[in-house]
Amino acid sequence: MSTGEGVRETWSTRIGFILAAVGSAVGLGNIWRFPFQVGQEGGAAFMVMYLAFVVLIGFPAMMVEFVVGRKTGLNTVGAIREFAGGAWKYLGGLFVFIGFVILSYYSVVGGWVLRYIGGSVTGGYTGTAAEGAPPVAAQYFGTISSGLDTLLFHGLFMVIVIAIVAMGVQRGIELGVKVMVPAIIAIFAALAVYAFTLGGATEAYSYYLSPDLGYLLDNWQSIVPAAAGQGFFTLSLGMGVMITYASYLSEDENLGVDGATIVGFNTGISILTGLIVFPILFTAGVDPETSGAGAIFISVAQALGSIPFGEIVGVLFFATVAIAALSSAISLIEVVVSYVIDEFGLDRVPATAGIGTLIFLLGAPVTYDTVMVDLYDIFAAQVLLVLGGILLVILVAWLHADEAIDELKKGVGNLAWIGDLWLWMVRVPVLVVLLVSLYLGVDGFVEFLQGDFAEFLSSL
Ligand code: TRP
Repeated sequence: MSTGEGVRETWSTRIGFILAAVGSAVGLGNIWRFPFQVGQEGGAAFMVMYLAFVVLIGFPAMMVEFVVGRKTGLNTVGAIREFAGGAWKYLGGLFVFIGFVILSYYSVVGGWVLRYIGGSVTGGYTGTAAEGAPPVAAQYFGTISSGLDTLLFHGLFMVIVIAIVAMGVQRGIELGVKVMVPAIIAIFAALAVYAFTLGGATEAYSYYLSPDLGYLLDNWQSIVPAAAGQGFFTLSLGMGVMITYASYLSEDENLGVDGATIVGFNTGISILTGLIVFPILFTAGVDPETSGAGAIFISVAQALGSIPFGEIVGVLFFATVAIAALSSAISLIEVVVSYVIDEFGLDRVPATAGIGTLIFLLGAPVTYDTVMVDLYDIFAAQVLLVLGGILLVILVAWLHADEAIDELKKGVGNLAWIGDLWLWMVRVPVLVVLLVSLYLGVDGFVEFLQGDFAEFLSSL
C-alpha cells in the first residue's frame, strides 16, 4: 500500500468515527431531554453543574470508553470480556440491559417527533386557543403524548430503526449525520434568532444563563444526580456505545482531540436548543418547571405557529430531530444486536427484528401515560448509566491502569503527561463524584416512586 493510500484511509476512518460518535451523542438528549432537565432543576443553576459535569466528568469518562474500544478493537460485550475476566463479563450484560431500557422509551419520544412532522404539515399544533384555555401547542402535546396512536408511532420509530440496522446501512446514516449536524445548527440558529426577538427573551436569558448560586447550594441534592444523568445520557456514556465506535480507530489517533470535538459539538447543540426553548416558554407564559417532558414540543410548536413559513420550517425542524434521534437509536440497538449475533450466532436480520420487537414491547407501557416516561428515564439516566460509568472507571482506571494509560498516550505526541493527569482525575475525583451522584440518583428515584409515581398508580 502506498503512503498516500495509508494516509487517506486513516483520515476517512477518523471522520467516519467522529460522525458516528456525534450522531450517537446528538439526539433527543440534547433537544428533548436537556431543556426539560434545565427547567426542572431551576435553570442556570443546573447549567453550571451540567457544564462542569460534561467537562470534568463526562469527557474523562468518554476517554475510559475510548481506551477500551481502541485497545481491544471489539464490540462492547466482546471488548469487556477481553479486557477483564471473571465476573466482569456480566458488565457487558448490564450494558445490553441498559440499551434495552433506554431505547424502549427513547423510541416513544422518537414517535412523538414523527407525529410532529405530520402535525407541521396539517397545522395540528397552530392556531389560537379559546379564552382561558392552554395554548394550542400545549393541547396538541397533551393529545399526542400518550394513547393508542402514540403506541403506533412508537412502533413506526422502531420499524425504521430495525430496517436501518438490519440492512446494515449505517453508512447511509453517516451520510445523514453529515447533513444533519449542519442542518441542526442552521435551523436552530435561525430559531434562536427568532426567539431573541420575543418579549420574554430577556427574562429567559437571565433564567437560563445567570446562575443563582444560592439556589444551587440549596438544591444540590437533586441538581447533582440530574446533571450526572444528563451528562452521561447526552454523551452516550455509561453503556459502552463509545467502546464500539472507538474500536475502529487507529493508534496514531489522538483520542483526546476527538473526544473534545464530540463533546464540543454536542454541548453547543444543547446550549443552542435552550436559547430557542426558554424565550418562547417565557413569552408564552409557560412555566419551564411544569412543562416537563413537553417543553421542547410545546415551545417550538408555538413558535412555528407564529413565524412566516412556519409549516415548512416545522417539517424541516422535526425531520432533522428525527434523523438525530435515529442516529442515536441505532447506536443503542447496535450494542444489543452485536451481542446477540456474537453470543448466539444469530443472523443480523432475525437478531435485529427480534430485539427490536422486544424493545417495542418493553416501551409499550410508556405510551400509557407520560409519567411512565419519567419512570423509565429517571431509572435509566440517574441510576443505570451512572452505575455503568462507575463500573467502567473501576475496571479501567484501577484494575487495568497500565494498559489504559499506554493506550491513551498513543497518538498524543509530547502531551503524554496528560495521560497521568487523566488517570488520577478518573481514579479519585471522577469516581467519588459518580458515587455520590449514584447515591443521590437512587434516592431521587425512590422519591419519585413514592411521590409522583405512587400518585399515578393510585389514580388508576
Ligand atoms: N446521546 C443520545 C442522545 O442524547 C442518546 C444515546 C445514544 C445514549 N446512545 C446512548 C444515551 C448510550 C446513553 C447511552 O439523544
